[in-house]
Amino acid sequence: MNITFIGIGNVGSALADHLAQQGHPVTIAARDPSSDTVRAAQEKNPNLIPKPVTEAVSEAEVIFLATPFAANEAALKSAGDLSGKVVVDCTNPVGTNLSHGLNSTLSGAETVQQIIPTAKVVKAFTIYGFENFENSAYSGYKAGDAALKPAMLIAGDDAAAKATVSELCTQLGWEAIDTGPLSMSLHYPC
Ligand SMILES: NC(=O)c1ccc[n+]([C@@H]2O[C@H](COP(=O)([O-])OP(=O)(O)OC[C@H]3O[C@@H](n4cnc5c(N)ncnc54)[C@H](OP(=O)(O)O)[C@@H]3O)[C@@H](O)[C@H]2O)c1
Repeated sequence: MNITFIGIGNVGSALADHLAQQGHPVTIAARDPSSDTVRAAQEKNPNLIPKPVTEAVSEAEVIFLATPFAANEAALKSAGDLSGKVVVDCTNPVGTNLSHGLNSTLSGAETVQQIIPTAKVVKAFTIYGFENFENSAYSGYKAGDAALKPAMLIAGDDAAAKATVSELCTQLGWEAIDTGPLSMSLHYPC
């Protein structure tokens, strides 16, 4: 599956590295291909190929958004046509003292969907720290015991898009738990 990342810092580089290790062609939708985060991601995994943002996005079936929440609008508006694309929103609207940055009135994921109304936004990869994306192993998990597999809460309004993201979660070592429509993201909370 062709996958690209908008934002390739702590979260993006960990997920991109593991998805590439699973055999997916993974690109970096790089606003600056010589940035420190692009370079660090490539040092981690040389198979991550930086491309101009609109080219990377147009080629991708799945786009991971892993930017600071405040950068979401600028990043998405410069990404070109996202119609019909699965967009995995990994961002958290973090407010002061780790409060909900939107005063718990609206999820960050819904604001992303408002910016790109024709894309299929799925919220995922927001309830753990990036260290867990680098290594999703859970010591209590025994192979084959699905009940003890680490859970990944996801939400979205499009069933097929959620199925795609669930499959990627499985490949990355998580059991995806579908919490319902995108509005459920507010209750993670994110
Ligand atoms: N850190 C965690 O443990 C964690 C866990 C779950 C969710 N999150 C959420 O995940 C998101 C990313 O967190 P992070 O820790 O990975 O951040 P980070 O390490 O600071 O990386 C941010 C990335 O976004 C890029 N970026 C910034 N502004 C941009 C713009 N306007 N357009 C395009 N790209 C832009 C940066 O590129 P440059 O290098 O060019 O600046 C960088 O590659 C945040 O929303 C955070 O709340 C974080």
